Amino acid sequence: MSDLNTLETDLIAAIENADSETGLEEIRVAALGKKGSISEQMKTLGKMSPEERKTMGPALNGLKAKITDAIAARKAVLEESALEARLANETVDVTLPLRPSPAETGRIHPVSQVIDELTAIFADMGFSIAEGPDIETDELNFTSLNFPEGHPAREMHDTFFFNEKEDGERLLLRTHTSPVQIRTMRDQEPPIRVIIPGRTYRCDSDQTHTPMFHQVEGLVIDKESHFGHLKWILEEFCKAFFEVDDIKMRFRPSFFPFTEPSMEVDIQCDRSGAEVKIGEGADWLEILGCGMVHPNVIRNCGLDPDVYQGFAWGMGIDRIAMLKYGMPDLRAFFDADVRWIQHYGFRPLDLPTLFGGLSS
Ligand code: DAH
Repeated sequence: MSDLNTLETDLIAAIENADSETGLEEIRVAALGKKGSISEQMKTLGKMSPEERKTMGPALNGLKAKITDAIAARKAVLEESALEARLANETVDVTLPLRPSPAETGRIHPVSQVIDELTAIFADMGFSIAEGPDIETDELNFTSLNFPEGHPAREMHDTFFFNEKEDGERLLLRTHTSPVQIRTMRDQEPPIRVIIPGRTYRCDSDQTHTPMFHQVEGLVIDKESHFGHLKWILEEFCKAFFEVDDIKMRFRPSFFPFTEPSMEVDIQCDRSGAEVKIGEGADWLEILGCGMVHPNVIRNCGLDPDVYQGFAWGMGIDRIAMLKYGMPDLRAFFDADVRWIQHYGFRPLDLPTLFGGLSS
């Protein structure tokens, strides 16, 4: 009997001291498992005299019940404290400041921002957006734009050509957004008033050139649009885009196969300080090419140049973004460096509008 008392005291002490559910389970197995200390004692009952069994039977069963209860009670305590520890650990401190959301930390790339700004300005003048594919045919990129076969202007475009197809056709990465002029005139009835932003490609790379860059093209075709309208549109665009009240512009004669006459346009700027200031000073900066759409181009689109006329212009989006936002190196635009976009990017919810401000 005293053996049983010692066993009970030891087991109860061990149960009370168990500080984890696994520790407690080990004690249970050591006492009540198949080969546990109590189970082993139970096995001796059969060999006992009836007299002995009368006292030992109830004593052993009583011990088994006590230990089972003690284990269950300790288990409840351990579970409770585990839950409390977890709750304490996972407490949310509601007084902490909010973590910034993706809308706070994400940034819009300056090229996307400038495309949104251009869209806002030209949409206000009644233009819609037209788009075309990056992979073009020679016919659309050159021939129908009045670049004769073998004309040196083709060479000046540093074109990326694909391998020749079986039928001899050679596709290319468009070198300018001008082929979308053709697509638009073939698809839409005049009057046409579109701007065409998009990616363009030329085999060229330095501080102000990357093999992939962006252009925006403008096209107006109807029966009476003339050069005066073009000048007004470009002046209004430059004032709105560079956010200045007035800006001097200079139209210089130039050559593009798809316009006649053709002009290059410079805007007034001041280069005396560290940054180029637009709309001030006495220097000039070239920003775009333009002209009256060549009658051959109008004819190539199935329209009669004696009835329809109009004008077009084209400029580099990356270039005007660099000028407006003072970014010195074009190559950084496409490096995907998070620090650069954090510095030069725009907040996603500050959409450019003419009434709310384009860039503020
Ligand atoms: N496509 C010309 C280029 O990439 C830019 C250009 C000039 C577009 C005059 C025009 C234009 O629409 O009228 O150099």
